Amino acid sequence: MAAKKVDSLYKKRSDGRKMDEIRPIAAKVGVVPSADGSAMFETGGTRAIAVVRGPRVLHPQNKRNPQKGILRVSYGMMPFSVWDRIRPGPSRRSEEISKVSEWALDAVVDLDAFPNTVVDVFIQIPQADAGTRVAGLNAAAMALAHAGIPMKEMVSAMAVGKADKTIIVDVDKDEEDFHDGEGATDIPMAITSRTKKITLLQLDGKISTEELKTAIEMGKKACGDVLEVQMKALKEANTEDKE
Ligand code: CDP
Repeated sequence: MAAKKVDSLYKKRSDGRKMDEIRPIAAKVGVVPSADGSAMFETGGTRAIAVVRGPRVLHPQNKRNPQKGILRVSYGMMPFSVWDRIRPGPSRRSEEISKVSEWALDAVVDLDAFPNTVVDVFIQIPQADAGTRVAGLNAAAMALAHAGIPMKEMVSAMAVGKADKTIIVDVDKDEEDFHDGEGATDIPMAITSRTKKITLLQLDGKISTEELKTAIEMGKKACGDVLEVQMKALKEANTEDKE
């Protein structure tokens, strides 16, 4: 079904982007050579690094699954990633993001061949300007592929949202903080590359059903653009490995 067009009241974005325009994207794999897999994903002022370690035997023993390996994701922002220093160590926010990222990736990894093991994915944010969980997911999916972990398909993520009754793609921090009395709406989402399954969809703020449909359609398109960049970076790494 075609998405319904929403009248735009939010005429201009602070950085001059079109409503459906994502910030400049950069991606690279192999950024941490000692890891089994690693990747960097950047959109505008947000940068994420992901490192994969494993599969390795899981301790303690009672946490093991004799049928398949376990995926474990840990997300954190570096102390210097925003103007106010981030306190090191887990917080409610980092634990929530770790969990939703784990679910989003668990849908595509296939650890049947690795019983009793764990695959650890560490996501770190050296620089944040909103959308860190989606940037982290993009980096993590690439790092898993780079590590050679069997995956049924890729995962690509993007945050869409609403500011001043207008649907926008790739919400930055200024837009997230935008206040028109209603406040901005932030919708991070992730989608799989082949079957187009949504593996992450969170909603913070207010939005109508029609607007949500429009936002999801715009988000799907943006995830397609992200996927191209992820695949290009993975191919480049493959070519370098063979040289
Ligand atoms: O980063 P993401 O949009 O996935 O999650 P959020 O909780 O909605 O955070 C939005 C943004 O707020 C982050 O990307 C950071 O730029 C900023 N932030 C911050 O300045 N201090 C924090 N303790 C947490 C987030």
